[in-house]
Amino acid sequence: MVEKELRVSKIKDGTVIDHISGGYALDVVKILGITGREKRVMTIAINVPSKRFKVKDIVKIEGRALNTEEVNKIALVAPHATINIIRDYCVVEKLEVKLPKVIEGILKCVNPACISNSNEPAVSKFYVQSEEPLLLKCHYCGYLLERADVLQNL
Ligand code: CTP
Ligand code: ZN
Repeated sequence: MVEKELRVSKIKDGTVIDHISGGYALDVVKILGITGREKRVMTIAINVPSKRFKVKDIVKIEGRALNTEEVNKIALVAPHATINIIRDYCVVEKLEVKLPKVIEGILKCVNPACISNSNEPAVSKFYVQSEEPLLLKCHYCGYLLERADVLQNL
């Protein structure tokens, strides 16, 4: 019998970002500033079968932790992702990312005339109108940012 499945290796120490919506892994990788030239073992799985959703993406990074800012950014492009911290092959921490209702300071408004882009000391602020498809509304000018705008911004 021919083996039908080839299991992706577990990692020893690092981070596994699981349950990324199918097709969005490369956006997550971009947010993390990963070029592929790091001397780390990394696995990027795209559109693999999932129990929870039909398909999912997974990003596994050996020897790398994520900071709060990175987790917040990941929530914008993968609002259902699970972040697993791995130590000595075991999952020692599992956190579900969550997109807050209001997003302050992470993104810039796309509208050049927006007061948050002027010299006024206004911290950017957006209301989440929809998670998937992503739609954010600027508190100051009402401009609507879509997923593509957000990705260019991160
Ligand atoms: N994983 C890994 N290396 C390890 C341990 C876990 O790459 N040493 C990966 C698993 O392949 C899985 C994710 O980390 O993609 C979470 O592992 P685990 O909690 O064991 O899996 P599930 O129970 O399926 O997770 P969930 O309940 O979040 O779906
Ligand atoms: Zn604005």
